[in-house]
Amino acid sequence: MNYLSSRSGIVLAGGNGTRLAPLTSAISKQLLPVYDKPMIYYPITTLMLCGIRDILIVTNPHSFELFKALLGNGEKWGVNFGYAIQDKAEGVAQAILLAEEFIKNNSIVIALGDNIFHGNNLVNLLRYADKRIEGGSVFAYPVSDPQNYGVVQFDKEGNILDIKEKPDNPLSQYAITGLYFYDNSVFERVRELRFSSRGELEITSLNKHYLNQNLLNVDIMGRGIAWLDTGSFDSLQDASGYIRTLEQRQGLKVGCPEEVAWRQGWIDDKCLESLSVSLMNSGYGEYLLMLLKGLK
Ligand code: TTP
Repeated sequence: MNYLSSRSGIVLAGGNGTRLAPLTSAISKQLLPVYDKPMIYYPITTLMLCGIRDILIVTNPHSFELFKALLGNGEKWGVNFGYAIQDKAEGVAQAILLAEEFIKNNSIVIALGDNIFHGNNLVNLLRYADKRIEGGSVFAYPVSDPQNYGVVQFDKEGNILDIKEKPDNPLSQYAITGLYFYDNSVFERVRELRFSSRGELEITSLNKHYLNQNLLNVDIMGRGIAWLDTGSFDSLQDASGYIRTLEQRQGLKVGCPEEVAWRQGWIDDKCLESLSVSLMNSGYGEYLLMLLKGLK
């Protein structure tokens, strides 16, 4: 593997998780399990697959210490984690502003903390978007319920005409996924946005800001890729079932940061072995050792 991006990453793990209450009454949604690992492992692994080693975790105030206990400073996975607290869930775009100090002059990739990506050609798609220097890149994915997402409207030639947030009458099946590549102008752009009627700085408004200047690329994510979001009881259960089915069938893990770090060459064999020690009873550690033996 061994691919390095010059971008910094942000995982958005703030929010209130109201659609999962009471599961989320005392604990952040992104710490809940998706089959055999905490939800946040998946978006972190997505960023690591994209070659990103500097990652800011944005959390809500209540779960900040728990995220730190789980993830630490990232050294164990050969990455660097920073943390920022979003006091109020004032929107995905608002959370970006908290990252300005961490990001400095870099371009960024933002991963929503409750989104899981998996499938053929995913890594190529990410690295292709990573190479674009100017503007923003987002992904459009066909879904059966576009009215619940930001939806892209295309013309007959496939050019993007507009993006609408949760439209009553969606003009396509294509939803914008929770993975966003932006250049460093993103901070200026967010500052120009206005709060929406639901009191948030919306990511769709940010994407439209880029689109209005013809600076938004929308790549189609095909049906060979799974994009799951895990924000409701059923979608959380579905995601766990999906991961369980794949892992049991293939004997390979999805969203395993230790594995990606090792394959990227960011941690060596000895580190992987030592990571396995505290994970032996669950079988997770056994998996890491199998990687070392070349059996996976
Ligand atoms: P949402 O699922 O839109 O919001 P939520 O997580 O608060 O859940 P609910 O709708 O059930 O109340 O958020 C998508 C992702 O973005 C999720 O990982 C949390 C994150 N997020 C933030 O980090 N800050 C925010 O202000 C918001 C709204 C979301």
